[in-house]
Amino acid sequence: DTGMFTYDPGFTSTGSCESKITYIDGDKGVLLHRGYPIEDLAENCDFMEVAYLLLKGELPNAQQKEKFEYDITHHTMVHEQLTKFYSGFRRDAHPMAVMCGVVGALSAFYHDSTDINDPRHRMVASYRLIAKMPTIAAWAYKYSVGQPFIYPRNDLRYAEDFLHLMFATPCEKYEVNPVLSRAMDRILILHADHEQNASTSTVRLAGSSGANPFACIAAGIASLWGPAHGGANEAVLKMLTEIGDKKNIPEYVKRAKDKDDPFRLMGFGHRVYKNYDPRAKIMAKTCHEVLAELGMGNEPLLEVAMELEKIALEDEYFVEKKLYPNVDFYSGIIFRAMGIPVSMFTCLFALARTTGWIAQWNEMIEDPAQKIGRPRQLYTGHTTREFVPMHKRG
Ligand code: SDX
Repeated sequence: DTGMFTYDPGFTSTGSCESKITYIDGDKGVLLHRGYPIEDLAENCDFMEVAYLLLKGELPNAQQKEKFEYDITHHTMVHEQLTKFYSGFRRDAHPMAVMCGVVGALSAFYHDSTDINDPRHRMVASYRLIAKMPTIAAWAYKYSVGQPFIYPRNDLRYAEDFLHLMFATPCEKYEVNPVLSRAMDRILILHADHEQNASTSTVRLAGSSGANPFACIAAGIASLWGPAHGGANEAVLKMLTEIGDKKNIPEYVKRAKDKDDPFRLMGFGHRVYKNYDPRAKIMAKTCHEVLAELGMGNEPLLEVAMELEKIALEDEYFVEKKLYPNVDFYSGIIFRAMGIPVSMFTCLFALARTTGWIAQWNEMIEDPAQKIGRPRQLYTGHTTREFVPMHKRG
């Protein structure tokens, strides 16, 4: 009668968790954030509205959104000392390694002033993380290409400012492309939260010990980096580039089905979705819009991706295993068209997912029944056995 899902109390005792933030029906390909379908949010909102919804549970009215956006915008700069962390990395360091390090280092600046038991401190830490991630991510890119760091602009919206931080230089005026910034808004929304995936579970588990939120988000970034998770968008582009031409697709589909071949179709399959990932459909539409805007409608990688999707969706192996394109299948083509290097793809995922991670972290800390995480194990090792001194060992 409250319009809210309920479960028996035993559900949480199995080490799973209760949450009101995101609901996924994998069989039907449904994704809701606080009850709102992802399709409606991606079509009608900007990222700040969805960030507010995830963090506070309701869509903001105009006044609430303006205040939230002002507060986030006025936390986008990072402590100037933090710039020194970048120079400790080799120029060719993977940007995810840089983000892990720099976000973890935020703890050194805010740990002592963040009492996680104080709701105001939690919200300030949450705003700081959401606000600073675009700056931190873009600076990892600038450092890798030897360009000067660009400082955030308070007159730009979140997605616009990220593209500005990435591509502006001190030498010329930066012009916002509204089609690209709208596409970036939508991409950030599609990556914002996704229930208890590997990286979100990592953030919750780290946070359950009382660790500060900056260290917990750094842990989430580390987990997201894996090619089976957030690193898949980088892996998809490498796969599409390796396939190169539509005529090579059957060979790769054959390899993906061969149990003796470790190759998997990157951007396909999902731990939960056994239907089309609703985010993939919206991403495909966004991909066509961005490529059209940039005059790249006949992008060869898009042709390979579309043909691969068509063949896989008709192939009995993929149909039987219920393998469909996921959120990562088209995103890399968009990022590459925007001029974002492959090594930065997962950094964009991390910057968007920070909002979901921190919303889930707040939900866990606010739960009075919350205890330190302690996943159960099934022990399959030796039973007790007699000790063997060194001189008697073979
Ligand atoms: C994300 O959890 C989340 O919500 C994650 C995420 C989020 O927003 O946080 O949605 C983001 O991580 C999306 C997934 C990105 N990863 C990839 O695209 C990498 C390629 N996909 C696979 O590695 C795989 O599909 C996983 C890791 C995503 C899921 O792996 P599972 O759990 O083994 O997949 P499954 O149980 O659904 O697989 C069923 C079968 C298995 O074969 P059998 O053991 O039954 O014989 O399908 C096979 C798998 O081997 N299979 C694939 C395949 N994915 C699964 N075979 C070929 N190509 C693939 N891509």
